[in-house]
Amino acid sequence: MTEPRRLFIKTYGCQMNVYDSERMADVLRPLGYVMADQPEGADLVVLNTCHIREKAAEKVYSELGRLKVLREEKAAAGGGRMTIAVAGCVAQAEGQEIMTRQPAVDLVVGPQAYHQLPELIARVSRKRGERLAADFAPEDKFDSLPNTRAANGPTAFLTVQEGCDKFCTFCVVPYTRGAEWSRPAESVLAEARRLAEQGVREVTLLGQNVNAYDGPGPDGTPWTLARLLRALAEIPGLDRLRYTTSHPRDFEGPGGDALIAAHAEVDAVMPYLHLPVQSGSDKILRAMNRKHTAESYLRLVERVRAARPDLALSGDFIVGFPGETEADFEATLQLVRESRYASCFSFKYSRRPGTPASAMPGQVPEEVIDERLQRLQALLVEQQVAFNAAQVGRTLPVLLVKKGRHPGQAIGRSPYLQSVHVNGAEQLLGSIVAVTIEGAAQNSLAGALLKAAA
Ligand code: 5AD
Ligand code: SF4
Repeated sequence: MTEPRRLFIKTYGCQMNVYDSERMADVLRPLGYVMADQPEGADLVVLNTCHIREKAAEKVYSELGRLKVLREEKAAAGGGRMTIAVAGCVAQAEGQEIMTRQPAVDLVVGPQAYHQLPELIARVSRKRGERLAADFAPEDKFDSLPNTRAANGPTAFLTVQEGCDKFCTFCVVPYTRGAEWSRPAESVLAEARRLAEQGVREVTLLGQNVNAYDGPGPDGTPWTLARLLRALAEIPGLDRLRYTTSHPRDFEGPGGDALIAAHAEVDAVMPYLHLPVQSGSDKILRAMNRKHTAESYLRLVERVRAARPDLALSGDFIVGFPGETEADFEATLQLVRESRYASCFSFKYSRRPGTPASAMPGQVPEEVIDERLQRLQALLVEQQVAFNAAQVGRTLPVLLVKKGRHPGQAIGRSPYLQSVHVNGAEQLLGSIVAVTIEGAAQNSLAGALLKAAA
């Protein structure tokens, strides 16, 4: 038997990376790796990186600088060697260059190759040579991942789709995550059943374009996301289903209608939709290659709201895309006013080398971007506060996820993905309870237990 080795994984970026990090731990567990809370003294440190904006990528290099020092300290204290691995999208995008820029890195492993981590680590420990595994082929990865998946509380992420064929002109994802690919339905269902058996009550299906899901069903014909959700809803214990992120274009056609119908008809499908729009100006949307307009986006939101009037709508925005004028930005604010969001992510445009937008004329000065972002965020906060305040007085089913800061308190999730603080509910962690909402703040709700519901 090998003695336990300490593994520290630091995750950057999106929820797909959170899922990948959990699966990396699953891959490494049979080799005797146990999770550590800090990098100090760890035998293996994995940085699971994000390349989407420049800041995210740069953070990785400063973290690597710190790890290099920790590795030296560990060796000096007679603690043996610390292996440093860079995984995720920076690994995919920059490959070997990472090792040139920071020679302390032992291995680089892309998002489609982490099932090879055991072999790569073995190679590193034998000789320091070919260390790059960043070739695409999600099939290989999912086939090779262990069937054991350690659930971590009553909620879990589950990757069902990867990659992107949309080529928005600002975005690196089509280059780092490859072409759109959907996991076979049966493999998703099997993983979901195992999670449910471990007490998971809420699963969030992940994909860069999750509503483009078209994985083969048991007879080889493709399933839509709606069909997958309906099959998942049959699994005992799985009471709540979410999915993210959706692209407006993939709501066109029968698959989109079926998904909207699922929101109306399947109780387990939560009334929440993350539907990035990026801008409210048709001129900018064209330059972004989004292939939808502000109007078609608003009509789509109306269709989903007709199916689920209480829908919590979320989105992503980019401020300061090349060529964005004050009038274009005003159009974004107008779209926000009409959409009535529950919560949103908004980003300053980040110029990513190699993307078409990075070479476009009319790059917007930093001060202008800052000022616009502030105005957009002020409006989004106003909407978020209003959405939360509207829940006061309602009784909502809340999935209690973890302990709160105060004795006896539990923190749960509303159907709308709001955090809910509930006093005297700690003993009910893992169950869905009825909570009367008594207070609302910008980022959370507070309420009192009505009665145990499940
Ligand atoms: N600059 C700023 N934001 C970006 N996003 C993607 N690429 C960029 C970029 N180059 C944002 C988009 C996307 C989210 C995941 O990140 O809003 O929906
Ligand atoms: Fe990037 Fe656009 Fe694909 Fe989303 S849809 S991952 S923003 S290219």
